[in-house]
Amino acid sequence: MSASGLILSSRPTATSVCTQCLRDDLRLTQVALQSRKYHPTRRRDASPFGSAVSAAQTIFKGMPKAPAGISVDPLRIVGKELKFLTKNIRQLLGSGHPALDKVAKYYTHSEGKHMRPLLVLLMSQATALDPRKHHTYTDKPATVDDSFTAQTILDDANPEMNPLVSKSAESKYDFSGDENILPSQRRLAEITELIHTASLLHDDVIDNAVTRRANSSANLAFGNKMAVLAGDFLLGRASVALARLRDPEVTELMATVIANLVEGEFMQLKNTAQDESKPAYTDETLSYYLQKTYLKTASLISKSCRSAAVLGRSAPEVIEASYAYGRNLGLAFQLVDDMLDYTVTEAEMGKPVGADLELGLATAPLLFAWKSNPELGPLVGRKFRQEGDVQRVSDPCSNGTHNTDYHTRLVRSSTAAMVSSRLALWPRNTPIRPLLPSVISLTAMLRPV
Ligand code: FPP
Ligand code: MG
Repeated sequence: MSASGLILSSRPTATSVCTQCLRDDLRLTQVALQSRKYHPTRRRDASPFGSAVSAAQTIFKGMPKAPAGISVDPLRIVGKELKFLTKNIRQLLGSGHPALDKVAKYYTHSEGKHMRPLLVLLMSQATALDPRKHHTYTDKPATVDDSFTAQTILDDANPEMNPLVSKSAESKYDFSGDENILPSQRRLAEITELIHTASLLHDDVIDNAVTRRANSSANLAFGNKMAVLAGDFLLGRASVALARLRDPEVTELMATVIANLVEGEFMQLKNTAQDESKPAYTDETLSYYLQKTYLKTASLISKSCRSAAVLGRSAPEVIEASYAYGRNLGLAFQLVDDMLDYTVTEAEMGKPVGADLELGLATAPLLFAWKSNPELGPLVGRKFRQEGDVQRVSDPCSNGTHNTDYHTRLVRSSTAAMVSSRLALWPRNTPIRPLLPSVISLTAMLRPV
């Protein structure tokens, strides 16, 4: 077990995975996802998620199957809620300043996969049937739209001028759909997307990105300054929405996520803790990478899953299980993403691949190659900046390693960890059990966008 809680086993597990099948399946499902415009309602198993579930059930032999008659297509389960997500997010982002309004909403116009809010909604629904516990500090009869402070104070820019708040920021939201999902949990789903999108606005500046979700990235379209400020604005609006959930525990969790994102991104600026010019591979190398991965990717998923259960007043063991599940899923998700950067073509991804090496980042495939090829150390140290470095390590054949095999084993370990150890934590009749295959299958095919 690593410091970050991921079980990394080099021993074969009961779950059998064919590397080639996994690669083929990832390719097929990526293509399917790229060609989808929005979350359509399709017949069972016809959506990319539905077929992904079937594929994941074939690949991960030990995975539990949903009982007959229970749909495991997550988009069918919470599709209605997701339909309102983007509209509600745009309302949360309204600004009377036309340029800010435009930049802040820019990434809401291109369709992301909404993996994080999807998980929050699934987790909310899955935990809904457990008895809700009494919470002492959240029983005030106020809704998630009601402010604590008088609106005149919140809009008090300069009383002589028009406030920069647009009408849309003040209007009421659409909340319809599954009654088992509380308004506060729906709002939490929106908050996770806001925080994630804010981090992407900043990340694209840091990475000097030119595309995002098949469009020009915000930094390219509007410049670095506006992109950074828009990200800050999203965080501000996410914080207001968070405060109005009136749950200090959830506020604490989600504020910690924001700090974790920055910590993870900071760790990523260096490939090793000491940032040596000729580092040697040690066990620390992988722990550092996993810690960075947890902070950068898994923390938002784990703490928002936990927050969903907290808002649902779930029992302590369900809250812990939601959190552990989100943590494992988040880690596996990033591990798959790192593998795709090596194994999938640009046409299949719809965006440049091999970006990690170009940015000087040593992710899991490279780390496993380095482990058995010590001469890669100087390349890691100089961040693959020398002519030929990227080519040398991006092709597993030419450097004599089997990066993908190593990496697939890592993915299998993390997925197996979720299935075997975490599933057992869920109370017997919790309805998350039939949902798990679909949620796990997300790991194998979604790329964070
Ligand atoms: C995508 O990584 C980026 C993240 C998962 C987090 C980035 C976090 C920050 C920039 C810290 C600031 C945070 C906030 C909340 C403002 P990637 O570059 O590996 O993925 P990509 O290929 O999608 O760009
Ligand atoms: Mg990036």
